[in-house]
Amino acid sequence: IEAALAVGPLAGRRVLVTSGPTHEPIDPVRYIANRSSGAQGTALAAALRDLGASVVFVTGPATVPPPAGVKVVQVETAAQMMAAVSAALPVEAAVFAAAVADWRVANAASVKVKKGAGGLSLDFAENPDILATVSRLDTGRPRLVVGFAAETDQVIAHATAKRARKGCDWIVANDVSPATGIMGGTENAVTLITADGTEDWPRMPKAEVARRLAQRIAEALA
Ligand code: CTP
Ligand code: CA
Repeated sequence: IEAALAVGPLAGRRVLVTSGPTHEPIDPVRYIANRSSGAQGTALAAALRDLGASVVFVTGPATVPPPAGVKVVQVETAAQMMAAVSAALPVEAAVFAAAVADWRVANAASVKVKKGAGGLSLDFAENPDILATVSRLDTGRPRLVVGFAAETDQVIAHATAKRARKGCDWIVANDVSPATGIMGGTENAVTLITADGTEDWPRMPKAEVARRLAQRIAEALA
């Protein structure tokens, strides 16, 4: 029904968006998190929907609600996000806006840890890199894979290296140093890095970044 009613340049196209933070448990009541609100990923899913796409939205525990009119898959951990993304494939385009925790707690407890025994020692294990895994798929790789790079210094250098390392097609780089107010804020200033080079976009509302990016994705899939 969705596909039959959809109109726009992305009608009939299946796209995936990851969004929000992940939470990595320490014990049943405590977790490690990050400051991602999910705002940019949510805006992007809405913009792709508005162009007619059939959107699968895989989201961690974000502070902003998911958009209407998309298929929402709610996850908590990076491992769950990896599994949900694999299950959502194949798609024509995949955009990885989630702030995936780089590490999980390897010695997470199955019951609540009690204080009083001194400090607490956590062992960390690296999480799967979802963007890199999908970018490097031999079969079933989306035609267009887009990553984000949140950096606080040497933004373009780090983001350019990240694009090569992960094997994605585009990287949307942004400066998330606290002074910018971008993390948790309503605006974003990004640089789009593709095989053709870098494009600086002016600072604008996250919804406008999303609309422009969705438009570019539609052009790339046309
Ligand atoms: N990403 C992912 N899975 C991970 C880590 C990151 O899919 N386990 C994706 C993010 O959604 C984003 C891109 O990879 O699209 C870059 O994330 P970022 O945290 O900037 O890069 P990392 O490779 O984790 O490098 P670092 O945090 O050390 O800068
Ligand atoms: Ca990271």
